[in-house]
Amino acid sequence: MNVVLFGPPGAGKGTQAKELSSYYDIPHISTGDILRANVKQGTELGKKAEHYMNRGELVPDEVLIGIIKNRLAEPDCKKGYLLDGYPRTIPQAEALDGILEEIGMPLDVVLNIDVPDEELVGRLSGRYMCECGESYHVRFNPPQNEGVCDSCGGQLYQREDDREEVIRQRLESYKNKTQPLIDYYANKNLVVHINGEKDINSVFDDIRVVLDKYLN
Ligand code: AP5
Ligand code: MG
Ligand code: ZN
Repeated sequence: MNVVLFGPPGAGKGTQAKELSSYYDIPHISTGDILRANVKQGTELGKKAEHYMNRGELVPDEVLIGIIKNRLAEPDCKKGYLLDGYPRTIPQAEALDGILEEIGMPLDVVLNIDVPDEELVGRLSGRYMCECGESYHVRFNPPQNEGVCDSCGGQLYQREDDREEVIRQRLESYKNKTQPLIDYYANKNLVVHINGEKDINSVFDDIRVVLDKYLN
């Protein structure tokens, strides 16, 4: 199945994508994760991206389009893909249409995870991450031992951009540049809305009801 997980920062895209990826056995492609890995390794790409990311601004389209084109060309995507955090602008969506047509894997569905703004700030400021890809929340999804990852025992940390002033800017970028994509995909009849205010497991169950239709 070929899926875009859409929604504002903190909606739960990464949390759901991780579970869905193992449940349906399709790759989870998060442009945020790819960019952060490049920043950490100090690559040219990472150096270019870092200053935008730390300010909560979008990294330029041409950089992202290159990343996604390469990633979708990898063999594991023959099974399908779960895009998380891409596309985020109209030019990115248009480029994606072209890439998907070329590889013959058109989108099945765009899941829009809806969560109100007030809730998003609380989710992001309480988020803790692990190197292994797990993420937690101090209140909504706490690890068994404070500061330690349940699945690998690693030390948890906060993301650079999960500071209040950067969170506000990320929400602004989302409203101005990314939200218009809902109409773009609604015009193609691809959007299904998911109530992201429910607890993590209920959101997962609701998404499965939708995605099970696309199993072949
Ligand atoms: P990215 O990494 O994509 O960040 P984001 O869109 O801001 O989204 P988040 O990862 O913060 O939120 P999420 O929806 O994944 O939430 P999560 O599941 O973690 O992008 C980072 C930056 O990279 C961008 O700002 C930009 O600079 C750059 N970038 C990336 N892609 C780009 C692109 N295409 N174009 C240009 N620039 C790009 O959940 C959040 C918290 O809530 C967690 O603590 C979790 O435990 C908790 N939680 C999750 N679900 C629930 C629930 N149902 N109830 C209660 N708590 C919950
Ligand atoms: Mg994420
Ligand atoms: Zn871990």
